[in-house]
Amino acid sequence: SQSAVHLVNHLDHDYLRQALEHDVRTGLTSTPKWLPPKWFYDAAGSDLFSQITCLPEYYPTRRELAILRREALDIAARSGADTLVELGSGTSEKTVLLLDALSATGTLRTYTPVDVDAVTLGDAARRLTTRYPGLTVRAVCADFERHLALLPRQGRRMVAFLGGTIGNLDPAAREVFLKELRATLRPGDTFLLGADLVKDTGRLVAAYDDAAGVTAAFNRNVLRVVNRELDADFEPDAFEHIALYDVRNDWIEMRLRATRAMDVRVDGLGLTVSFADGEEMRTEISAKFRPEGLRRELAAAGFAVLRHYTDPTGDFSLVLAGV
Ligand code: AVJ
Repeated sequence: SQSAVHLVNHLDHDYLRQALEHDVRTGLTSTPKWLPPKWFYDAAGSDLFSQITCLPEYYPTRRELAILRREALDIAARSGADTLVELGSGTSEKTVLLLDALSATGTLRTYTPVDVDAVTLGDAARRLTTRYPGLTVRAVCADFERHLALLPRQGRRMVAFLGGTIGNLDPAAREVFLKELRATLRPGDTFLLGADLVKDTGRLVAAYDDAAGVTAAFNRNVLRVVNRELDADFEPDAFEHIALYDVRNDWIEMRLRATRAMDVRVDGLGLTVSFADGEEMRTEISAKFRPEGLRRELAAAGFAVLRHYTDPTGDFSLVLAGV
């Protein structure tokens, strides 16, 4: 049977540009300074992230894959979904495990990848229609923090949000995200959420401060993105990579620390920002969860946990929730 690919773009041509300008202006003029993690992922940043997923210290990707390898069929059968909606570009390896399982249970009809990057979407669509003849790919170019209400609503859906990316949202943003997602779902639809779990602080910090320095390069890459896109003159090498675990908030924080006092021009914003020697700028939070906390946050948004899957080491969780 014939495959079909549709692409809907909800991002007008300067949406990303305006969002970047807004975020950088807000973050660099705040005290303390910060930049949001979504701007890590240009081509170089995405490549550095895939290197991170292979590092011995970075366990989440391997753990989540192990859970999916073991449980994908159970997840597929419990979801009963004919449509897989995937928020954010996970590695296709994970997507394929879910699509294989849904096609084995005989329900699979449609895959809806959602990403801000049209190139990523196009690649995914081409790869997957070759692998699954008859699959309809409804790719949606959108920002999942802004455009959930615009996602296609056909079919019995399972919305997958994998990798632990939910941890990049602070608790208030998580609440908004979960409630907005819940509002788009109907009875019978499900939500598959990947979340990293609280564990030994040493292992957590090592996962975000690897010996080979790949995470450090990934962290500094956000400065290259701002240099290129907003005509700034950050010197990435003048910033030190910091990863620390905040035990009160249960999150990893990545920062960049200025190794000397400096002024940085951001010509695209007509802005000059001064850094003091040793000043730290937050670039990411990556929250870690407890199963009970996950259940509580999901319940507060109107989700009921159907099944909680974890790996033998208890490092990572996949939660299948219904509405
Ligand atoms: C892709 C958001 C899940 O928070 O662990 C990896 C990003 N940052 N190393 C994470 C990341 C530093 C990653 N997520």
